[in-house]
Amino acid sequence: MNGPEPRFNDDFLSQLPAELRPEEVLLPPHGDQHLRRRECLAAWIAAQGGGVVVLCAGEEIIRNRDNPFPFRSHSDFLYMTGFPEPDAWWIMRVDAKGESESILACRPRDPEREIWDGVRVGPQRAAERFHMDRAISIESLDDTIIELAANMPAFYAHMGIHAELDEKLRHWLNALRAKGRAGVNAPDRIVDISQAIARQRLIKDNFEVATMQRAADISAQAHRRAMRFTTPGHHEFEIEAELLHHFRAAGAQSVAYGSIVASGPHSCILHHRAGSRRIRDAELVLIDAGCELDGYASDITRTYPASGKFSGAQRAVYDVVVAAQEAAIAATRPGAAFSEPHDAAVRVLAQGMMDLKLVKNQSLDGLIESGDYKRFYMHRTGHFLGLDVHDVGDVNTPLAQGMVMTIEPGFYIRPAADIAQEFWNIGIRIEDDALVTAEGARLLTRGVPVNADEIEGLMRG
Ligand code: GLY
Ligand code: MN
Ligand code: MN
Repeated sequence: MNGPEPRFNDDFLSQLPAELRPEEVLLPPHGDQHLRRRECLAAWIAAQGGGVVVLCAGEEIIRNRDNPFPFRSHSDFLYMTGFPEPDAWWIMRVDAKGESESILACRPRDPEREIWDGVRVGPQRAAERFHMDRAISIESLDDTIIELAANMPAFYAHMGIHAELDEKLRHWLNALRAKGRAGVNAPDRIVDISQAIARQRLIKDNFEVATMQRAADISAQAHRRAMRFTTPGHHEFEIEAELLHHFRAAGAQSVAYGSIVASGPHSCILHHRAGSRRIRDAELVLIDAGCELDGYASDITRTYPASGKFSGAQRAVYDVVVAAQEAAIAATRPGAAFSEPHDAAVRVLAQGMMDLKLVKNQSLDGLIESGDYKRFYMHRTGHFLGLDVHDVGDVNTPLAQGMVMTIEPGFYIRPAADIAQEFWNIGIRIEDDALVTAEGARLLTRGVPVNADEIEGLMRG
């Protein structure tokens, strides 16, 4: 008797031991967190009278010829589905009573393409794995949405982000309007879903906090490695290579943003990407780098002396930034305004500018009110952190437990005739990631030290 014919599909592959199967695309993280997030959104949509949510993952973008940029889904899509492939859509129909149906549309299996690009989940497997009511091929996306949206009051979608989605909304609406004589009502509203999802993403669930802690640990270790590696004579790109090596060796899929490795005068350029400059003795090195792990960002900055020993002027400015960060950390607690940590840091930094005689003839309040301190501190002290490094969230909301934000004061002194030369090209930023808890800020990134003596000790070691 003949056995089942070997075929390039699930039925056959699933009977093989795991070690004989090609590696599969990322599975969703264990747990039902995506399902719970969708239920939460569904409750909100029901309270608005119901509607049809449509989110798209985005598509692969070509970098040059046949070579795409690494694909990474839109963060809202990732948050609601955990599904990692391009050309995927998530649809959720919610009625006014809160009954909902969740549907994932994804690329069909394709033996030819899978030989080149890797295994696809495919609609047959996607529903169960990603906790959906059903999954369909993207080829039936339009028909499915037109059917689901009949007699529904609204579409909930991103507006003005994906050209393809904007165009499809027009197409779906017109297809539904064309059914008017058959008694079908088309939705009469398109509601931008961004803010509703941002409100959810702003408060991290336990799964997210655990993932962000792991990302923070990897990045902190990478910073330690880069500090220990640094000596005068290295190029900035060599320091970057140390960071990247550790990120990938520890399992992070990507950087959360382009790594900043800024030596000497570059330390006063806020977003200087690691370049080909050779680091000199007596200079500072500012590293602002973090990995992305399972979709979540980490964001750490440390500044240290290339020689392993701060000069007197470097140390004086450094300690002002440490004190500013401590003040901002103390101001990071539930109920505080988003601006309070920034205001606290500015006060300490401005006092430091006066103490170091970098500004003259001003009172502390005068220096702050005039904004003259911005010559040396021109950015904000933090931002929300999550799936995006500059994460979504309304900064007019008071701080609350479960938010994650950065605390990153800086001090940047460019050469100028009115500045003592010992301060020239001292650019310092210290950045940690903080979870807001009932007790205040819990720092996720102190696996790498901040204290100047500890940094010098680490570099000597
Ligand atoms: N790495 C960019 C920032 O700190 O916001
Ligand atoms: Mn940051
Ligand atoms: Mn940063």
